Amino acid sequence: MAHSTVSETSSTITEPKRTKPMLKIWLDGQLVDEDQAKVSVFDHGLLYGDGVFEGIRIYNHRILKLHSHLERWYRSAEKIRLTPAYNIDEMDKAMRETVKANNLRDGYIRSLFTRGYGDLGLNPFICPTAGTIIIADSIQLYPPELYETGIPVVVADRPRLPVQCLDPSVKSLNYLNNIMAKIEAIEAGVLEAIMLNIEGNVTECTGDNLFMITDGKIYTPPVSDGLLGGITRQWVIDEIGPDCGHPVEERHIKIDEVLNADEVFLTGTGAEIIGVNKIDDRVLSDGKVGPISSKLIARFKERVAENAPED
Ligand SMILES: Cc1ncc(COP(=O)(O)O)c(C=O)c1O
Repeated sequence: MAHSTVSETSSTITEPKRTKPMLKIWLDGQLVDEDQAKVSVFDHGLLYGDGVFEGIRIYNHRILKLHSHLERWYRSAEKIRLTPAYNIDEMDKAMRETVKANNLRDGYIRSLFTRGYGDLGLNPFICPTAGTIIIADSIQLYPPELYETGIPVVVADRPRLPVQCLDPSVKSLNYLNNIMAKIEAIEAGVLEAIMLNIEGNVTECTGDNLFMITDGKIYTPPVSDGLLGGITRQWVIDEIGPDCGHPVEERHIKIDEVLNADEVFLTGTGAEIIGVNKIDDRVLSDGKVGPISSKLIARFKERVAENAPED
C-alpha cells in the first residue's frame, strides 16, 4: 500500500517506494503482482487485528521448519476460531510456489490469515471467508556485525499480556503489546526489550525468545509463563543445544538471574540466534557474545547451510 507523506518544510509530496524488484504475492488463491495485491479496508484483519500470521526463513531453497510453522499457524487460527479457506497441504504448496515465483534462494516468508471482509463491528462470524496472503522476500533483520558483537537490550516496564487475556502463544495480527515494549527499547537506544509477565517472571523479548546460561547450563522460561512457543526456541531445545553438549532446561526465570547470568542469547526466525552483550546498564560476558552462545550460533549456521530441516 503506498502512503503519502508531506514534509513539514515543503509542500512536496513524496511517495516512498520499495527499492526491490516487484514481487509476486500469493493472495486468496493466486499469484499476483505486488501492486495488485490489495486488501479491503473492511477486512477485519486491518480493522481489528483479527487474524494470525507466521514468519518463516528460506535457506538455500529449503524452508526451515516449514511443517512446524504451518502447524503453529493452523493452531493459532483454531485458537481464535478462524477457519482458513485452504488446508495445510494447500498452504505448503502455495508457500513453495511463492518462493519459486520470486526466485528466492534465501529469504523470508510472511503468511497471514485475516478474518476476511465483513461489515463494521467486532463480530468475527459476519466475515464469510478468511483472507490468505503469502509474501516471500529477502530479509536482513540485524546488521551482520551484531552477530559478532552481540546486542544491548533493556528490560521493558510494560508486562507481557497474561495468558488469560490473549494467549501469547497465538501468533495474532495484534502485536501492540510487543510494539509498545519495542518503543521502550528504541527510545532507550537499543533494538530489543525483555518483557516480564505480571507475576514478574521473565517471558521473552518483543519478537524473540530468551535463553540464559549460568554455570554452563542453559535455561529458558516455559511457554506457560506467557510467551510465544518459538520454532527456533524449540529447535535449540531439541537439537542445537544438545548437539553442542548443552541441554536446555525450561523453568521460571527472574530478571535478577538474567542480569547475573554468564551469557544471554535470543532466538527467532528473523534474529536466528543472537547474543546479548548488555541489559540496561549491566554488561554481560565482558560485552561480547559468550563462548557457549558462540558455539550455538556456529552450529545453527552450519545446520541451515548444510540442509535446513523442513520438519
Ligand atoms: C513475540 C515473539 N516471540 C518469539 C518469536 C520467535 O519465534 P520463532 O522462532 O518461531 O520465529 C517471535 C517471532 O515470530 C515473536 O514474534
